[in-house]
Amino acid sequence: MTGGDRSRSAGAPAHVVLVGLMGSGKSTVGALVAEGLGRPLVDVDVVIEAQTGMTVRELWERGGEAAYRPLERDVVVHALSTDGPDVVAVPGGGVEEGLVRTALVAADTYTVWLRADPVTLAERVGRSDHRPLVGADPLAVLEHQSTERSATYADLADLILDLDDRSPEDLAGTIAAAATEAAAPSPPP
Ligand code: S3P
Repeated sequence: MTGGDRSRSAGAPAHVVLVGLMGSGKSTVGALVAEGLGRPLVDVDVVIEAQTGMTVRELWERGGEAAYRPLERDVVVHALSTDGPDVVAVPGGGVEEGLVRTALVAADTYTVWLRADPVTLAERVGRSDHRPLVGADPLAVLEHQSTERSATYADLADLILDLDDRSPEDLAGTIAAAATEAAAPSPPP
């Protein structure tokens, strides 16, 4: 949670941001956090698909990762440049973009890493339109991404939540409470 303009609703920072690997529940938990805080959810992949009229898989098949990443970057950076308030579900690879990391640090954000073991995530991520990377061996892909990205997620996170067997409702409740508490003015000494 860093500087930037502090327009808030329900006491939480302008942008409650969810990061984590594919299958970690960013969209599902994000929708529940948004509902709990009474603010909209910006699900970046949904915005990209609405803007382009194509699924993430179609984008990837037509232009590859090189066509997709700039769209992802621009949607995240734009969302964080607004006053909010909102909840932003950043796709798994979004944090690999320097401009995204800069925007996350510069804006009024509370960033949560939804952390889980690649084995758990591999069981979750069946074939779906928006996960062209999954392919035939989801576990290998997720283990590689976990090695590549965990340090970045940890650096950016104000809160790290292990999914374990926690329900989306339970996780969302923890996030809404933590974001609101983190923004509460500290009592005078
Ligand atoms: C990706 C994650 C996906 C989607 C694309 C690439 C990644 O989003 O953007 O398949 O690189 O981790 P979710 O994290 O919402 O699954």
